[in-house]
Amino acid sequence: MSKPKHLELSQVGIDFPTPKGPFTALQNVNLVIKKGEFISLIGHSGCGKSTVLNIVAGLYQASHGGVILDNKEVNEPGPERAVVFQNHSLLPWLSVYKNVELAVKQTRKGRSKTEIKEWVQHNLDLVQMTHAADKLPSEISGGMKQRVGIARALSMEPKVLLMDEPFGALDALTRAHLQDSVMDIHAKLGNTVIMITHDVDEAVLLSDRIVMMTNGPAATVGEILDVELARPRDRIALADNPKYNSYRHDVLRFLYEKQKKIEPVHQASTKTSKRISTGRSNAA
Ligand SMILES: Nc1ncnc2c1ncn2[C@@H]1O[C@H](COP(=O)(O)OP(=O)(O)O)[C@@H](O)[C@H]1O
Ligand SMILES: [Mg+2]
Repeated sequence: MSKPKHLELSQVGIDFPTPKGPFTALQNVNLVIKKGEFISLIGHSGCGKSTVLNIVAGLYQASHGGVILDNKEVNEPGPERAVVFQNHSLLPWLSVYKNVELAVKQTRKGRSKTEIKEWVQHNLDLVQMTHAADKLPSEISGGMKQRVGIARALSMEPKVLLMDEPFGALDALTRAHLQDSVMDIHAKLGNTVIMITHDVDEAVLLSDRIVMMTNGPAATVGEILDVELARPRDRIALADNPKYNSYRHDVLRFLYEKQKKIEPVHQASTKTSKRISTGRSNAA
């Protein structure tokens, strides 16, 4: 008998109602993810990455097909699928500690006060935020807020960690630190991770596989790239690694040649209809 699948998206499609009729954002999205795998979803803006993540999170219901996690169909949000958004969603009136504690209390019911306290501290330790436990979200930097968001998600002991452009709003140095932290944590805990990114280097550095999505409407999985680079990965050593660079090129080629995003520019300005690439740069 074959091993049961961990996380499977099968024939996933979604139609959003719009004033002009249904809009098919996703069609026939198929993906099987192994336990502990680190998957990146990459694709041009608006192709449907967040929609895929929201379906796995149980926040959106697929119109066709579905998602199965450890033999259970996903139909609603649950703590075994924790989400980290780009803009941390911490409660501003609660301290760093209390923000994590709230998630722990909701998911670890029946634990003693000491157990809860230890678990909150353990998760703040994981993201190196113990020193700021008593601060309010308004008193810490953007990178620190993302760390707390990650601690909060991890404190729920999710089977799957879902991250929607978690470092997108951060400066390059902070982003690099957080990427390293996420790699360390993934090595320690072995969670299954699905991360959305538009940063090619980030995708190659962090992922076991990069799922490249076609442009919408009716977006789907275009290509999947296996990233066979030994872990732990070191960004500086990888900069000169031919394999790393060839993976980068594969993703760039997919995004800027095969799925080049073209939008017509107003025709009056030139004789030939001019088109531009609106793909975001991958600069960190
Ligand atoms: N709730 C919704 N209602 C209608 N259209 C939506 C909704 N959510 C997303 N879409 C549309 O689906 C497409 C994919 O969106 P999204 O998943 O947010 O893209 P990405 O995350 O790749 O930038 C876009 O055309 C977007 O406008
Ligand atoms: Mg998105």
